[in-house]
Amino acid sequence: MSGVPAPLFARQVELRRALHRRPELAWREEETASRIEDALCELGLAPRRLADTGVVLDLPGAEDRPAVALRADTDALPLEEATGLPFASELPGVMHACGHDGHAAMLFGAAALLRDDPAPGPVRLIWQPAEEEGTGAPRLIEAGVLDGVEAIFGGHLDPRWPTGTLVVTEGPVGASTDEFRLVLRGRGGHGARPHEACDALLAGAALVTALQSVVAREVDPASAAVLTVGRFRAGSAPNVIAGEAVLEGTVRALEASVRERVLSALRRVAEGAAAAHGATVCYEALPGTPPVVNDPDLTRVAREAARAVVSDDGLRRLERANMGGEDFACYLERVPGCYIRFGARPASGPAPAHSSAFDFDEEALAVGAAWFAEVARRASAKRPAAGPSRSSSA
Ligand code: NI
Repeated sequence: MSGVPAPLFARQVELRRALHRRPELAWREEETASRIEDALCELGLAPRRLADTGVVLDLPGAEDRPAVALRADTDALPLEEATGLPFASELPGVMHACGHDGHAAMLFGAAALLRDDPAPGPVRLIWQPAEEEGTGAPRLIEAGVLDGVEAIFGGHLDPRWPTGTLVVTEGPVGASTDEFRLVLRGRGGHGARPHEACDALLAGAALVTALQSVVAREVDPASAAVLTVGRFRAGSAPNVIAGEAVLEGTVRALEASVRERVLSALRRVAEGAAAAHGATVCYEALPGTPPVVNDPDLTRVAREAARAVVSDDGLRRLERANMGGEDFACYLERVPGCYIRFGARPASGPAPAHSSAFDFDEEALAVGAAWFAEVARRASAKRPAAGPSRSSSA
């Protein structure tokens, strides 16, 4: 199905399992990076380090063709593994529970395929750290990982889809992920004498309710957004009026304009609700990643590549976007590209990502490698390089 030679697939599985045994959290992917570098060096390739634990491999190609980047992520999660797999995590409290070990092994497979059957243009393969924190992509961008890159592709293993399916969708496929913190300040006092105090807990309770009007009344019902207050802390004793309340939450949206609207309404409603109760509010925004929006032209290229690997039978599209986030969005803000999903349903059935039972079907490693290689070939053959023409004719 995938055209990946058996010895290469075996090496991919070996690498994936080695990474799986030794998962590392964001910005600690030292051993992970070394293993990836060693595997690439075995192929006679020359990777380099970027931003401590990032690994980058540049494959040369004709300079008049677009340079294409392919990205995998490499970090694990703070979770105790409970899969019972023979290659389960050896490190207590850390687990590859999101398949990034698989992404890293897929991209290794793509490197081998592109070495033997190169793309017309230059290809940059990126093993990115710290996706779970959302800080890996911004830091690699700052370090120049997108310099000269004209298109970028990535994807995620998804055990909800059968192995051998590739899910390719244009437009928004993932949400923005901002967090916020609101500190309401009133005046503490005796529980029996509320008229002498200013109850921050009551103001906070009113605010939690009022915030639900933001998505309901300010966002076009045909657009998706979520505002969740996930933490509310206030008070110290049953007979004491709380002088302070702290609310923390997350905002998700699929469009940049909706993201802006929700964040500004959040602040306005918070200030209004606090004022209505005689309290003050301090608003702290913790900006996250933007929405993941696939470029229509490059999604077509991604789909053609997917069709070449899994045929029409394996080709799928998302009927609705996922409100989860992905720092791949930071690349897509700067360079057009496409982010897909690799079907990888294990025989045992799917367990949710970020759960201690998460696993995926390793056959998907070959499918993913073949797609990565194919999309790089097609995208760098697709159009002449952007910018001024190099030909001498007018
Ligand atoms: Ni992930």
